[in-house]
Amino acid sequence: MTDIQTLTLTRPDDMHLHLRDGAALRDALPWTARQFARAIVMPNLRPPVVRLQQALDYRQRILHALPAGSDFTPLMTLYLTDETTPDMVAEAARSDMIHAFKLYPAGATTNSDSGVTELKRAYPALEAMQREGMPLLIHGEVTDADVDIFDREAVFIDRHLIALRRAFPELRVVLEHITTAHAAEFVRTAPEVDARGVPLLAATITAHHLLHNRNALFQGGIRPHYYCLPVLKRESHRLALLDAATSGDPRFFLGTDSAPHARDAKEAACGCAGCFTAVDALELYCAAFEERGALHRLDDFASRFGAEFYGLSRNAGTVTLARRSWTVPLQLPYAEAEIVPLHGGELLSWQVQPAPDA
Ligand code: NCD
Ligand code: ZN
Repeated sequence: MTDIQTLTLTRPDDMHLHLRDGAALRDALPWTARQFARAIVMPNLRPPVVRLQQALDYRQRILHALPAGSDFTPLMTLYLTDETTPDMVAEAARSDMIHAFKLYPAGATTNSDSGVTELKRAYPALEAMQREGMPLLIHGEVTDADVDIFDREAVFIDRHLIALRRAFPELRVVLEHITTAHAAEFVRTAPEVDARGVPLLAATITAHHLLHNRNALFQGGIRPHYYCLPVLKRESHRLALLDAATSGDPRFFLGTDSAPHARDAKEAACGCAGCFTAVDALELYCAAFEERGALHRLDDFASRFGAEFYGLSRNAGTVTLARRSWTVPLQLPYAEAEIVPLHGGELLSWQVQPAPDA
């Protein structure tokens, strides 16, 4: 058997990314801009990106933080709150810069205190989004303290998502960073498509949820860099996600959910949720797809299905990965401190070319 030695992809898009702001933005952004042509940028800053003007200002800060010569394009999103009005949705839809609204159930994850407290309150805004063709991106976890943390995604689907889709059957929805067989099955069996044949319900899948199950959190001791939300699940769920990602179904596409936090905020008594994968994102997806002998399916997952869902043209140009073992940096500079990339200090067998130090 001859192993594939290089893999050339259409320049991919990261359809779920946290870039932060200020010095953190300056240090995180170049890693994504190296690997991806565009990214859907999450609005969970402090304060959150709620209004069109805030998103336009944030977009300018991202463009200013880009390395010279980079043509990376940030695709901006707005943070849905109890106060989002139909007029705010219509205004966002008229601007070419806003690609989605993000729904965080209040308290579900990092910087989600301003999130929606009860879904019904967002119904007028959701109705406007449905009318405008504006996608809704969902952090699909209930926040009830009495629901087991490993069940929160499945319970969100049963308690909220089913009703939401019935109420707004034409709304474009992305269930973000899915982690369970339940979510994969819910998305896979949603038959609805728009007039262009584009699915109305889709899901992003992270590299870390394709590669790891919840044992990774506790291997030899507690491993804070593997802690993210939704939290890693058991192996049967990981296998269901791998099935979905490598199936060639356009409902599933790449979103890293790379979520940088400084080392001391992760390695703490109450560490932050979020895995930083921008440094080695494509390499990790390669490892996952290779586990299934499905490297030939990575191009559609990384570079085509997401663009089609968002009504964007495919990127020009390519990125090439070579089979070459390299050690992921143990830590990197981050906002006057340091950050630990997921798999920092470990050997990976694929590498984006040219290597950063080349
Ligand atoms: C994200 C973050 O740090 O902003 N954390 C995470 O664990 N994924 C927020 C999120 O997407 O839930
Ligand atoms: Zn996220």
